[in-house]
Amino acid sequence: MGRRTVDVEDRWWRDAVLYQVYPRSWADANGDGVGDLRGIRSRLDHLVWLGVDALWLSPIQPSPMADFGYDISDHTEVHPVYGDLGDLDDLVAAAHQRDLRMVLDYVPNHTSDHHPWFVAARSSRTDPHRDFYVWRDPAPDGGPPNNWRSRFGGGPAWTLDEATGQYWLHSFLPEQPDLDWRNDAVQAAMTDVLRFWMRRGIDGFRVDVAHRIVKDARLRNNPPNPDWEPGMSDDRRVVEHYSRNWPDVHAVHRLLRATVEEFDDPPRLLAGEVNLAPPEWAAYFGDDDEFHLPFNFHSIVDLPWTPSAVAGLVEDVERAVPDRSWPSWILSNHDKPRFPSRIGREFACQALVLLLTARGTPVLYYGDELALGDTDVPPEAVQDPWGHQVPGEGRDPERTPMPWDATPTAGFCPAGVAPWLPLGSDAITRNVATQSEDPSSPLQLVRDLLALRRQRRSLRRGSIHVRATTDHALAWERRAGDEVTVVLASFADHDTVVDLPGHHDLLRSTRIDRRGRVVDHVELGPHEAVVMEPVEPATD
Ligand code: GLC
Repeated sequence: MGRRTVDVEDRWWRDAVLYQVYPRSWADANGDGVGDLRGIRSRLDHLVWLGVDALWLSPIQPSPMADFGYDISDHTEVHPVYGDLGDLDDLVAAAHQRDLRMVLDYVPNHTSDHHPWFVAARSSRTDPHRDFYVWRDPAPDGGPPNNWRSRFGGGPAWTLDEATGQYWLHSFLPEQPDLDWRNDAVQAAMTDVLRFWMRRGIDGFRVDVAHRIVKDARLRNNPPNPDWEPGMSDDRRVVEHYSRNWPDVHAVHRLLRATVEEFDDPPRLLAGEVNLAPPEWAAYFGDDDEFHLPFNFHSIVDLPWTPSAVAGLVEDVERAVPDRSWPSWILSNHDKPRFPSRIGREFACQALVLLLTARGTPVLYYGDELALGDTDVPPEAVQDPWGHQVPGEGRDPERTPMPWDATPTAGFCPAGVAPWLPLGSDAITRNVATQSEDPSSPLQLVRDLLALRRQRRSLRRGSIHVRATTDHALAWERRAGDEVTVVLASFADHDTVVDLPGHHDLLRSTRIDRRGRVVDHVELGPHEAVVMEPVEPATD
């Protein structure tokens, strides 16, 4: 069967803005303090009002929740805490009715240790599912087979199964045994999972830790990390040379891509988490036969928020993205501090302008539209296994409930119910209802920028040219045919003036009171960002 490559013009995600929902925290319809699918359905109109095009749900499948859904025990069901397959079907139908696409998380690196495959695999060395996972005999001293470390500070990436006398590999928690993608049966079973969801109308997937799912077949020791010192996280003791970004991983991604291309009406999106620097990250586009959108979040989280660093990253990404491929941009997700907490609240609106005007598909994390920051989660309320293992490293602060209104439960769950994680202390003022009444709010800014994207092809599909930056400001120009959009952002905490030859009309500023035309230079307030259109000077 020949490959049915989707025409670039049909790739709906190139015009789209994606929105990540962390299902536990978006909307709780049944009043148990945890978000659910009916809750999501009841809030879809927010996404329509805002103007996003697709929602991506973090995992909703059954899971013992050792890693809050990233430990799946049944790939083709819905966890009862979120509802059932009927609720999912209703949600997909309601989303499609509103022209919203539905993207699911897909977790191929590992399953839960409660998954029937692993339960069977563990039952005996000769079980037919044994080779679904990676098992090895102990080292001669009885210890783990090699020096690989697990993520989340848990020590070795191997746990001994006493009964069968072998270790299983887990890149994350012991409760998340790694699948062996070198096994054809794993490939068949896991690609069937994609087909199952596509038949139910799912429009695409975000592939979890895509750069980790195939490792060195010989399981060689990773080199020690010369920069490691006590106090640094345990997994950084070694350089992950053999355990991630291993060249054989690309064959699997070609298989996943071919699988999503079996369904082409509509074309299905294959996005992936690829936490690598731009040159390595770009390899995950393949020859336009791997990911449509590898997410390049990694480079952003450690970025100093300065004009030269942001410009440098955009330029690095532009250089790295192959011609026929397409970038994507993210400021926050469920694994890292929210961007207003990371880069400083004063930069939040300016950063939203940059996110939504750079070339590529932007991904908003729920609450980004409110410029939501992290929530303090007291030690007794910690939920994330990483936070239990390494105090302070937990990801709960960026996963707290969405504030919808100024009521005591913020409209997230019914009155009197305690949400699974605490609400932000500013939920009373920083919520959807309050910000939708306030024209100067981040929420209205995001909505206006999304409307501008729809109106202006240059913002959606245009080329990007990063202009010379000063210590205080950054500019880029987007161009599609004759249409040009200029974006200018100040990083200074004082007024600043930027030379900009010609006449420009202001389309939107982070300051709602700014309108009109600027000639030859732009006066920017502290941390202000503006979107402009070059115009001919009036002749009379
Ligand atoms: C990804 C997910 C993260 C999860 C990990 C293990 O990085 O985004 O939340 O803990 O994979 O599945």
